[in-house]
Amino acid sequence: MSKQILILPGDGIGPEIMAEAVKVLRLANDKYALGFELSFDELGGAAVDKYGVPLADETLERARAADAVLLGAVGGPKWDKIDPAIRPERGLLKIRSQLGLFANLRPAILYPQLADASSLKPEVVAGLDILIVRELTGGIYFGQPRESKVLDNGERMAYDTLPYSESEIRRIAKVGFDMARVRGNKLCSVDKANVLASSQLWRTVVEEVAKDYPDVALSHMYVDNAAMQLVRAPKQFDVVVTDNMFGDILSDEASMLTGSIGMLPSASLDANNKGMYEPCHGSAPDIAGQGIANPLATILSVSMMLRYSFNQTQAADAIEQAVSRVLDQGLRTGDIHSAGTTKVGTAAMGDAVVEALRSL
Ligand code: NAD
Ligand code: IPM
Ligand code: MN
Repeated sequence: MSKQILILPGDGIGPEIMAEAVKVLRLANDKYALGFELSFDELGGAAVDKYGVPLADETLERARAADAVLLGAVGGPKWDKIDPAIRPERGLLKIRSQLGLFANLRPAILYPQLADASSLKPEVVAGLDILIVRELTGGIYFGQPRESKVLDNGERMAYDTLPYSESEIRRIAKVGFDMARVRGNKLCSVDKANVLASSQLWRTVVEEVAKDYPDVALSHMYVDNAAMQLVRAPKQFDVVVTDNMFGDILSDEASMLTGSIGMLPSASLDANNKGMYEPCHGSAPDIAGQGIANPLATILSVSMMLRYSFNQTQAADAIEQAVSRVLDQGLRTGDIHSAGTTKVGTAAMGDAVVEALRSL
């Protein structure tokens, strides 16, 4: 039976990187007889332009009906001044929330060929392999009430709310422990329990879940310390589980250890491993339209899709190997370029991965 993949290229560099990921996906589809059917729609600013909203109802229905969704990136200066209710980012948050994609897996892995591209010393990052498990459908991103208003004295004020229920914490903690079990058996839960009530509940519930995982070594860390430890000694981490906003920030930080935000893929999963797959980076308006963005995070997101949604381990491994071969060949987009390597554009990088995958 065929499997439906919905592709949402998005804005800025989104369509550029997605074109390369789609080349790789189509080849994998043929080579491994995956039976995928691809369809395309808009999300974010492109959807505002086409439908008047950043996520049209019909697009959401297509996403629900699909077996997996592949997303580029959304947002950009063109839509920064529009009604906040229809900003491109709102479409992204809505699709995550409506599909119940509460578990966001963000692996930060250093390809050995990129040790020179990392902003840290090679010995600090050599062999780095961290998985950040970010809660994706709760916390301050979605908390109510939230409001912008003018006080009686004429002063403007605004606030957000950071709520977590124990069931939301329990289910993401379980994902963290399950991931630790199939990796290095170490889980670090990152919170701000010295200040926030939501973090105090987070820590309590994580401790409760830990009772079912006596084989996993659990530690807790405050987020400010975690941000520091990530650049001091990142290899102390195996799996990190944390809330929506802390996970957003720490994963961008972790990406630089791997050489570039352009290297970080992600999987956003529901309770049944149905998922949406996207690079961790944004639409990069500063380089959009120039054909120089790094497509590898999106290509590696295709690999995560094959692994997590379709259990196609061989094809998923092959895509990662193809990426590694291309790095062996010395090909680099500008963001990971260093002395002695060859600078290439987005399409040349995608083509090289396709060729490497073909020859595997
Ligand atoms: P960004 O991730 O788009 O860019 C940050 C920096 O990283 C820029 O200098 C950019 O050129 C560089 N960069 C990002 N991806 C790259 C790639 N593949 N190759 C080479 N360089 C890359 O973050 P930003 O500038 O803070 O945000 C820009 C827009 O993207 C905003 O509208 C923001 O809301 C949106 N955004 C969307 C997503 C998403 O769709 N998942 C994620 C983050 C930001
Ligand atoms: C990400 C992005 C999004 C987030 C924004 C664009 C809503 O930064 O996917 O990391 O904060 O989750
Ligand atoms: Mn982010």
